[in-house]
Amino acid sequence: MSTPASQVVHLADPERARGRIGNCPNPESVLQYGPQLRMDVLDRLRTSSILSAAQFDKDLLCELSKLAAYLQLRKYPASKALEDKIMAAAFFEPSTRTRLSFESAMLSVGGNTISVADAKTTGVAKGESLRDIGQMFNSYADIVVVRHTEQSAVAEMTEYLRIPLINGGNGSDEHPTQALADWYALLKWRPEIAFGSIPEKFRINIGIIGTPGNMRTVKSFLTLALLFPENINHITIFSEMADPLGDEMRKLCDASPIGINFSRDLQGSLEYLDVIYMNAIAFLGDGYRFFDEEFQLNAQSKLKHDTVILHPLARGSELSVDLDTTVHNLYFNQADGAVWMRQALLLAIFDRVRNTIPDNLLI
Ligand code: CP
Repeated sequence: MSTPASQVVHLADPERARGRIGNCPNPESVLQYGPQLRMDVLDRLRTSSILSAAQFDKDLLCELSKLAAYLQLRKYPASKALEDKIMAAAFFEPSTRTRLSFESAMLSVGGNTISVADAKTTGVAKGESLRDIGQMFNSYADIVVVRHTEQSAVAEMTEYLRIPLINGGNGSDEHPTQALADWYALLKWRPEIAFGSIPEKFRINIGIIGTPGNMRTVKSFLTLALLFPENINHITIFSEMADPLGDEMRKLCDASPIGINFSRDLQGSLEYLDVIYMNAIAFLGDGYRFFDEEFQLNAQSKLKHDTVILHPLARGSELSVDLDTTVHNLYFNQADGAVWMRQALLLAIFDRVRNTIPDNLLI
């Protein structure tokens, strides 16, 4: 029997916790291993574009998670940190979470936003090139977040850009800030994955439902999972495809000491999985479709009592709403934490961490 959500909400600020459902781990947990932020690590993001999850190593993910935790706990006022900055959110493909959470993040730290929510309202509808649109963003904004259906769009736009670009999802390639949000949720839930050492028999087993070779969220999540070989036991990819990894991800997985397995038997593997990462669609060759029943989860699924489920959302029938009020639901916390993680990222890119966090917490 799963734990009702009312027993697992323990966010520090009761105002923020009100009305939340699912597993809401306390952000304090990522600060317990050392409260100070390493500026030598965070400074690596100054003026940087964020194109791929491969830009992040363990140190950078840990320091960003700690900064996100300080922001989420509202320990120090950040509401004016980026008041002189403008963020352009240029979304040429539909989005609920990424665009709105970036805008929410920017507004929360005092910044300003301009937005493209629909490609048809831009010069793209008249045949304007992404390079020319990128050129315009140099004049109108200090940073741009781009979402596009085409993998090549990010590279095309950066050709004339002189401001940082954040990849908000480019075709089937990458969604790096989604992976940061995924891992922020996981590190709040089990901070020892990154900050500590888990005894061998308790090391984490992760199940990924999907194809890292051609699903951007799955690819970026797996890329960051490979940063924790000490505390992850196995990663099992559940897919109907013969080669779900593809060349690029296979090379990364082959170089990792983490055991990578492949299976089609999700239901028979549930008793071994501590974390399940799922997505809405299955890619099969050149096409895609919604996952079959064998890859669907609901409150009757034989999950371990403390398994957590991540899903970048939007969901389909693969993730039943009857899981929402259980301890397995980390997916709402994942979406919620994205706002704080994206604030942390923006502060680091604009070098405003020192203006926000007290000196005694910076090293
Ligand atoms: N997680 C995610 O990318 O959601 P959106 O498509 O709504 O931005």
